[in-house]
Amino acid sequence: MNNRISVVVLAAGLGTRMKSKLAKVLHCVGGQTLAEHVVQAACAITPPEDITVVIGHQAEQVRASLSPLGVNFMHQTEQQGTGHALLTCRDSLHGAGGLLVVLYGDTPLLTSATLNRLVEKHRRHHAAATLITTRLEDPSTYGRVILDDQGHVRAIVEQKAATPQQLAIHLINSGIYCFNADLLWKHIGEIRPDNPANEYYLTDIVAILNHAGHLVQSMEVKDASELLGINTRVDLSAVDKVIRDRKARDLMLAGVTIEKPETVSIDAQVTVGCDTILGPFTRLTGNTAIGEDCRIGSGAVIENSRIGNGVRVAPLTMIADSHIHDGAQVGPFARLRQHCDVGPAARIGNFVELKNTRLGEGAKANHLAYLGDAEVGERANIGAGSITCNYDGTLKHPTRIGAGAFVGSNSTLVAPIEIGPGSYTGAGSVITEDVPEGALALGRARQVVKQGWVKAKKSERKP
Ligand code: UD1
Ligand code: MG
Repeated sequence: MNNRISVVVLAAGLGTRMKSKLAKVLHCVGGQTLAEHVVQAACAITPPEDITVVIGHQAEQVRASLSPLGVNFMHQTEQQGTGHALLTCRDSLHGAGGLLVVLYGDTPLLTSATLNRLVEKHRRHHAAATLITTRLEDPSTYGRVILDDQGHVRAIVEQKAATPQQLAIHLINSGIYCFNADLLWKHIGEIRPDNPANEYYLTDIVAILNHAGHLVQSMEVKDASELLGINTRVDLSAVDKVIRDRKARDLMLAGVTIEKPETVSIDAQVTVGCDTILGPFTRLTGNTAIGEDCRIGSGAVIENSRIGNGVRVAPLTMIADSHIHDGAQVGPFARLRQHCDVGPAARIGNFVELKNTRLGEGAKANHLAYLGDAEVGERANIGAGSITCNYDGTLKHPTRIGAGAFVGSNSTLVAPIEIGPGSYTGAGSVITEDVPEGALALGRARQVVKQGWVKAKKSERKP
């Protein structure tokens, strides 16, 4: 027996109903494109070199987003329907034998467990084709599945071509099929574009295989949400919600506390360690990894960042592309972006912005500061209201602040500049020259006190 499983993912359509400039399969749910989700599910039943993605609309972008997964591509130059899309693979795949599983690029909730069951049922019954179906309360937009007395599949009828009786059927075609590859390639050429849309419908293969005397069976899935196909932005948001609900549930079952889980938004690939607590409305996206025993405050937004163990991120803090080490505290109302690195037990307080800045262990910037392109040594203290002037209108310049330095409140550090280890800058100073180790730098006008000035001024005004 030929055990090979080839998978074809149809992803060439524009998706007119999305009303978008972007090809449908490049839209994201749960932080990944629709096509990525489908290919990942396919990887559970076959190695990537046996997966072919049919591309067409915005082919180069789709190819670029999926290439890292190691799959193959076929180009469908004109989108003449799902049957036509599969036909583009005939020359490269018809000799492979074994099974051919067809997936549509717009059904991203499919689980690998369901795909495994499909293949298993198909093999057990030696069918020509097995398709996944489900019952929907509102089946509109889906193809309806017509069964015979024995429960075998006779035909699939598309919404546009269905009679009123057929429209009343609630059993729908998911767009996920397992074929005996040799039989499929033998008969696929018989599909004709004889429908109102003038397209080659892959669904017509069911009636064709029946006609040739072959068994077509269905596998009904009870959880219909797994088979949701995305055609509109309404579908997109429904599927996104399902993925994020699944994610929050998986994290809770793995030991993460989530307060008001219905309000959080966590991408599928994010990881969170045990005993971490996520407050309401937290948003964790991209390749974010959060350690154990952290407290992530409500409304925090963390993108593509690494958070160590025992970190406290207070509410309404934004962290992007950064690394926060163990035991550090950030926020509330802080913003970190472009590769910040906050050392162990360091503290970033409210209304502090960091850009491309590294803070050593135990360093502090507790209130109202901007540090850009800066290197702050361990245990240094950045006073309230201090800023680095890192941009001269043309170029960005670095600021280096040594270990244990004390930058007085409201200091203005004009980069490039170096504040030596253990040195002080006086509050309100504009620092334009390097400060040596252990020195005090004052860059402000000396205070002048005019005794009795107010009284003298007022008496001047009297007539
Ligand atoms: C299709 C099925 C319908 C099923 C539904 C499930 C057909 C004729 N109908 O309808 O029975 O209930 O999916 O979601 O198959 N594609 C191409 N090239 C093309 C046309 C489409 O690659 O020329 C791709 C699209 O990019 C998409 C997938 O095939 O990923 C499905 O196409 P779509 O137009 O969404 O089909 P539906 O109308 O949803
Ligand atoms: Mg569709």
